[in-house]
Amino acid sequence: MNTKSTVSFASKVGAILAVAGSAVGLGNVWRFPTEAGEHGGAAFILIYVLFMLLLGVPVMVTEFVIGRHGHKDVTHSFLSMSGGRRGWKWMGLLPVVAGFLVLSYYSVVAGWTLYYAFEAGLNGFAGKDAATYAADFVSFSSHPLWPSVWMAVTVSLTCGVVALGVRRGIERGAKIMMPLLFLLILVLVGCSLSLPGAERGLRFLLQPDFSRVTGSTVLSAMGQAFFSLSVGICCLCTYACYFRRDVDLMKDGLKVASIDTLVALLSGLIIFPAVYSVPGLQPDAGPSLVFITLPNVFQQVFSGVPLLAYVFSLLFYLLLVMAALTSSISMLEMAVAYFHEEWRVSRPLSAIGVSLVCLLLGTACSLSFGVWADVKVLGLNFFDLFDFLVAKLLMPIGSLLMCVFVGWVVDEQVVRQEITNQGTLRSPLYRLWLFLVRYVAPLCILLIFANELGLFRVLFATVH
Ligand code: ALA
Repeated sequence: MNTKSTVSFASKVGAILAVAGSAVGLGNVWRFPTEAGEHGGAAFILIYVLFMLLLGVPVMVTEFVIGRHGHKDVTHSFLSMSGGRRGWKWMGLLPVVAGFLVLSYYSVVAGWTLYYAFEAGLNGFAGKDAATYAADFVSFSSHPLWPSVWMAVTVSLTCGVVALGVRRGIERGAKIMMPLLFLLILVLVGCSLSLPGAERGLRFLLQPDFSRVTGSTVLSAMGQAFFSLSVGICCLCTYACYFRRDVDLMKDGLKVASIDTLVALLSGLIIFPAVYSVPGLQPDAGPSLVFITLPNVFQQVFSGVPLLAYVFSLLFYLLLVMAALTSSISMLEMAVAYFHEEWRVSRPLSAIGVSLVCLLLGTACSLSFGVWADVKVLGLNFFDLFDFLVAKLLMPIGSLLMCVFVGWVVDEQVVRQEITNQGTLRSPLYRLWLFLVRYVAPLCILLIFANELGLFRVLFATVH
């Protein structure tokens, strides 16, 4: 069935907000501050921005080119762009596999954020000491039932939005949630910057200390650029299938990357001033920063005004929920679009079916923090295995293949026509973009890939 889909986003703003929603997620509010905190702040951020430009944006635009050209599901897009070479059709199955895997483990953390928002709403963080926050998190995340229940709630919300369709569900959801997300961020940044000691947090975020930059800082910044834009698993490609023909792919790519980076920086402006305003706390607490350190921080910095502690905690976890939902919607849509377009299964039924499978897989990931901690495949528990498969295998391999496909396999005229909207746009950055896609991005990706698989460690060990 090769007919093109008639579905598209209703407006250009809706398209940008939906794609920005896919990019902006836990990666910005949770992973970015964690990475920046562990790798020395401003120097990491500068390198990260560089990789956004060299790697993230070029790969994102290749996804846009593929998706918008096919204007159906991703399988069809690859087939149509390759001029009917069936081998490339299999690339289109990448988002289906990635969709199941990524949503399954992402929903576990999304469920935690929803539970924390609920706890904050009940004022459950008040009056505890530092050790209790850690013990509470461990006790919740290792519980055999409750994390799965909260995960099921987030997956159901995601499923509801996707089942409603591209315009009524995904686009409308993005138009409501993204402005709300920005509003929450601005309120929280304002509160955080007014705290005593905020300038130390600001300095950490804005004053680069290059003496702390190591090879691992550079590679982590590259990996974060990847994760934050969700490139390589066809999330963006799937949404680009719904772009109208008059969307300027290059300009929109830059806009989405700017929004994504801005949200990450603003999240840093919420978290670091707050952390530094509590004597003795440091920003390098790792992934536990958001679920153990921050509930404690919010109570301590506003200890004189309990109402502020309550409001700040609640808004912060609502922000996390919103960020997680806008991304998980795009993850579910990847697989749903395939079953809906290729197998002709109705959208609601596809959404429910894929969600149920993700819930089953997600439960296995959730149990990895408790009773199934010792159940391992390739030496990893289910949560770490899924993270490894998505972030360390599928994202780099997918990005590399997309660069090779658009940069070397597809007829350059087809690519140019897509970028310039059939010659109606000037696109002064076209040649630079093509150079980045053909040479620079693949090289960066191979480096990340080699590092993630530990090849450098093996190499250095052999040399020494
Ligand atoms: N890009 C998504 C995020 O940042 C996956 O969470």
